[in-house]
Amino acid sequence: MVDTKVTLCGIELDNPVIPASGTFGYGYEFAELYDINILGTFSFKGTTSEPRFGNPTPRIAECTAGMINSVGLQNPGVDKVISEELPKLRNCFHKKVMANVGGFSIDEYVKTASKLDNCDCVGWLEINISCPNVHGGGMSFGTSPLAAAEVTRAVKKAVKKPVIIKLSPNVTDIAAIAEACEGEGADGISLINTLLGMRINLRTRKPVIANRKGGFSGEAVFPVALRMVNDVAERVHIPVVGIGGVSSAENVLEMMMAGATAVEVGAANLINPYACRDIINDLPSAMEKYKINSLREIIGAING
Ligand code: FUM
Repeated sequence: MVDTKVTLCGIELDNPVIPASGTFGYGYEFAELYDINILGTFSFKGTTSEPRFGNPTPRIAECTAGMINSVGLQNPGVDKVISEELPKLRNCFHKKVMANVGGFSIDEYVKTASKLDNCDCVGWLEINISCPNVHGGGMSFGTSPLAAAEVTRAVKKAVKKPVIIKLSPNVTDIAAIAEACEGEGADGISLINTLLGMRINLRTRKPVIANRKGGFSGEAVFPVALRMVNDVAERVHIPVVGIGGVSSAENVLEMMMAGATAVEVGAANLINPYACRDIINDLPSAMEKYKINSLREIIGAING
């Protein structure tokens, strides 16, 4: 019997597979399709202090082996998430969940993170300083080591639960930003969020997406994400969560050999709502094929 367990910032997961924020709602929607308790955990929809309607439509553009989104952090706001979404989630998910926190100012990150920190069902706070689809917040905090450090310091001071900072790939040195977060006490780093992208409609001669540009994700980004996960894992001493184009059990193994302790699955959920279930089911046979007894032993294996 192979061992798929991993430990993420002090909490043991049955397996490292985590649906990524924005691709799995608040979980209960997927619980109608399968028992979501098979997941390691999942990261719920990015939550801000106030409700957000999101960006104008169209917000999605199809691409070869991927897609561009410009949702704009649509969500009902943290108070409604706590009073309406999390109770529904608790009825069908009995593990700790990862709370994804978005924001437009340091104060907002702190306020939202503090409220979610007080929820029993929340195990980790994933602080999204990498959303490419909003102005005056999101990615603007994740493209400078100083700003990333400032958010990390403020949130860490305000909460008790492990803080994982979600980074943007739209930078020259992502590992320097990860180091800055680690220096302020981050408990983990997740990466990558989406790559800035664009499509143009040849008939209208206009961008397909109303907001012109958006975040590109999907299978096409996997090699880029894997490289960045490895860059970060080689420079920090805290757990790294690999994200970007993961769509198979083999991709999970690659991410872990590059240095990830756990792996988020994003766009694949939008193509196949059973993607995470299928990856979890496939993991043991993939491990046997590559003679892996325990996933813990392959984390960062390429450097071993
Ligand atoms: O636009 C969005 O809601 C996406 C968020 C993100 O990529 O962080």
